[in-house]
Amino acid sequence: MKLILLGPPGAGKGTQAEILSKRLGIDTISTGVMLRTAIREKTELGKLAQSYMNEGKLVPDEVVVGIVKERLQQEDCKKGFILDGFPRTTAQAQALTETGIEIDKVLSLEVSDETIIERLSGRRECKECGTPYHVVYKPSSKGDVCDVCGGKLIQRADDNEETVRNRIKVYHDQTEPIKEYYQKTGKLVIAYGKEELEETTKEVAHALGLE
Ligand code: AP5
Repeated sequence: MKLILLGPPGAGKGTQAEILSKRLGIDTISTGVMLRTAIREKTELGKLAQSYMNEGKLVPDEVVVGIVKERLQQEDCKKGFILDGFPRTTAQAQALTETGIEIDKVLSLEVSDETIIERLSGRRECKECGTPYHVVYKPSSKGDVCDVCGGKLIQRADDNEETVRNRIKVYHDQTEPIKEYYQKTGKLVIAYGKEELEETTKEVAHALGLE
């Protein structure tokens, strides 16, 4: 399965990608995770990306397309992958099409703007391995440390309310039009995010025909 996860910030793309990755035995390629890793490691890419991300703006297309294309050439991608957070502009979608890689499904995970703000204010992630949590909906069983690796749980720099509102605007202006791009290919399926995580997981499986 070669799958794209679309959706606004905080829709639950990362959470569902983690579940699908285990279920389907394929890796997730998250541009957000790749860029945050580069920031942590203080690479040239990280230095460039940081100012855009802190303001909730998109990192320039040519930069993101470059890192994704390189990742897609790796051997493990032949058996499938889940793209989380890419493509995010029509230019990125076109660049992906031009690679010749055949995408099976594009899942748009939909939630309201109000839900996004509630979810992102409670989100935490592991400082070490990036596993996502929520203080109410998906708490760690070990309090403020990660269930997977024991790392400290932190709040992302771009999860403050002002930046979240900017990210939502950027999503509506620049990313939502991609749905039409993929609708024309007949690959777009839609799942509505529910309040309960398990319910959303069922919706996603149903939309992808995995039941
Ligand atoms: P990125 O890291 O991709 O962030 P995002 O798209 O804004 O999405 P999030 O990671 O915030 O949310 P999510 O949908 O994964 O939700 P999650 O599962 O965590 O991008 C960050 C930045 O990087 C961008 O702003 C941009 O600057 C840059 N960037 C990245 N890709 C780029 C690209 N292609 N081009 C240019 N720039 C790019 O869930 C959220 C919370 O809700 C969690 O706490 C979770 O536990 C909880 N939750 C999830 N599902 C449910 C549920 N059903 N019920 C209750 N709670 C739930």
